[in-house]
Amino acid sequence: SKASAKDVMAAAGLPTAASEIVDSPARLDAALDRFGPPAGNPAWVVKDDALAAGKGVVVTPDRDVARAHAAGLLEAGHPVLLESFLDGPEVSLFCVVDGPTVVPLLPAQDFKRVGDGDTGPNTGGMGAYAPLAWLPEEMYRQIVSRIVEPVAAELVRRGCPFSGLLYVGLAITAKGPAVVEFNCRFGDPETQAVLALLESPLGQLLHAASTGALADFGGLRWSEGAAVAVVLAAENYPGRPRVGDVVVGAEADGVLHAGTARRDDGAIVSSGGRVLSVVGTGADLSAARANAYEILGSIRLPGSHFRTDIALAAAEGKVSV
Ligand code: GLY
Repeated sequence: SKASAKDVMAAAGLPTAASEIVDSPARLDAALDRFGPPAGNPAWVVKDDALAAGKGVVVTPDRDVARAHAAGLLEAGHPVLLESFLDGPEVSLFCVVDGPTVVPLLPAQDFKRVGDGDTGPNTGGMGAYAPLAWLPEEMYRQIVSRIVEPVAAELVRRGCPFSGLLYVGLAITAKGPAVVEFNCRFGDPETQAVLALLESPLGQLLHAASTGALADFGGLRWSEGAAVAVVLAAENYPGRPRVGDVVVGAEADGVLHAGTARRDDGAIVSSGGRVLSVVGTGADLSAARANAYEILGSIRLPGSHFRTDIALAAAEGKVSV
């Protein structure tokens, strides 16, 4: 529940978007007036309070679109979260947590819109890269010490210490990092990029978290260079995807499967919206991008689509905070 996450964030004193839960259609219009352009925000941010695979969120400057999304959720019996818009580049930071102990992984950036140039509807994520050369080291440390560690401590204080993977999604606003959301799982496709660079044994890290030994685990070792993950999506995704097509080239190195299945005759076929991701690595983001798109170039799936600009702005030095 996003409302319950907001409650924890408020108690831990975290920077996050102002928000309001709407649970009845009668309250919707007045609430829409308190968010979005009438209240000085560039857009409305309307979220399903519950999980929705990244597709419960609509960010739009069009009041009718915002209202229709919220009304649809309410009709389906889902409370709606309205939030103020957080401007600035987004960061996904995964932390392995056990009680108050936090071991952060490398920060990554995800591309949530379906189309190049951040156009089209939201998806579960169309690509990602790590690390983020544009994120100052000091800001990364602050995210851990002022956001993740206080949340871990607040959960301990509440008598529900968390052990596992805490994923914090942030926007780096003009006023500094602000929390967009928390998840208690790895994020997809950022994980594909982050884990491609992890040299420490992941199994030992997770084992330490699950056996009370995380505080003694020490720092993580990372490869030099960069990793880029690009998602190949089925026709019509993020709408109802076309499935059942043979994917040619899906067994190449660097291909990670998600929405695929093996048919009785052994062929790999598409079975979901985000069919697979390819992960390229290299000495820098440009090399990692070239590697990822080269692998993608050898894969064929009728009607499929992917973004061509994953990590491009960062590789060109055009992302700044
Ligand atoms: N990439 C976004 C998510 O996993 O929720």
